[in-house]
Amino acid sequence: MSSEQIDLLRERALRDLEEASSLEALAEWHARYLGRRGEITLRLRGLGSLPAEERPRVGRALNELKETLEAAYEERERVVRQLELAARMQAEAVDVTLPGRRPAIGTLHPVTQMIREVTDIFAHLGFQVVEGPEVEYGYYAFDALNIPPEHPARDVWDTIFIESDRKEIVLRPHTSPMQIRVMERRKPPIRVVVPGRCYRYEAVDATHEWHFHQIEGLAVDEHITMADLKGTLAEFARQLFGRERRVRFRCDFFPFVEPGVDFAIDCMFCRGEGCRVCGGSGWIEILGAGMVHPQVLRNVGYDPGRYTGWAFGMGVERLVMLKYGVPDIRYFYQGDLRFLAQFDRIPV
Ligand code: PHE
Repeated sequence: MSSEQIDLLRERALRDLEEASSLEALAEWHARYLGRRGEITLRLRGLGSLPAEERPRVGRALNELKETLEAAYEERERVVRQLELAARMQAEAVDVTLPGRRPAIGTLHPVTQMIREVTDIFAHLGFQVVEGPEVEYGYYAFDALNIPPEHPARDVWDTIFIESDRKEIVLRPHTSPMQIRVMERRKPPIRVVVPGRCYRYEAVDATHEWHFHQIEGLAVDEHITMADLKGTLAEFARQLFGRERRVRFRCDFFPFVEPGVDFAIDCMFCRGEGCRVCGGSGWIEILGAGMVHPQVLRNVGYDPGRYTGWAFGMGVERLVMLKYGVPDIRYFYQGDLRFLAQFDRIPV
């Protein structure tokens, strides 16, 4: 083997080494030149078949070449490892300037938010918040509230019955039964608000649901008058719908109050001018109320000569619809996030 041939071999090996740019290609290169069956190895092994006078020169040259290539290989391996590391670091780099992933947290249902808002207002006026059963005895839902079995007013509440044979059991059609339960358990002074779910046997449409929420209010003490009712409701309406609201009380009938009233505010959309929301009247009815009927007081063992009181009841969904211009009550219970998520900025 001439020294030119060895030079050519060196050049080729070094050129190939330069082209190996992955650890995998490097391993291949090593096998090809320096491995057990590599070119250099085989040549060294074949020295024996050379003429004796050539062996020392070729042997030395090949050994030198082997050392050169091994050193070059190690150097190249170091470089390739660094290149691969750099490439991986770049590929796996974390961009700390990217915005974080916002976890999808839920929002409180608009009805829940409204219940909190309303009960908060009354809590600050000195009312306590209590809750009661949704499955109720006919006695509390009707009889104790001065609505006897055959009374035509009973039809107004379109009740869903659980049991009607022996003891009447119903899904409460209003929160008024809690007036009785609270008065039965306590002595005046009483000031409570009662939020809760109600049910009615109702054809569902844009303004009627077969289940909905009410908030009941009750104040009983000595010397409680209609003036207290008017002042309390006016303050409540102004906190919920704006300080500038005007209020209206008109006669209405509920068997458990006397006198009964309906309470309205001037329309906040047209300010009383008359528009679609208020049906052109300029007024929006918010709730029913009245002085607790003497018979109801007697039913719970109170002396109507000593105690007087008033009560009110309002529909929560209706309040949300009025405050935020929701056109259809059915939106509340369809679980549509496009609707529900719109209430995520209302301060709770
Ligand atoms: N319970 C009545 C209803 O559901 C509302 C009401 C409550 C009226 C208290 C007067 C007093 O319509």
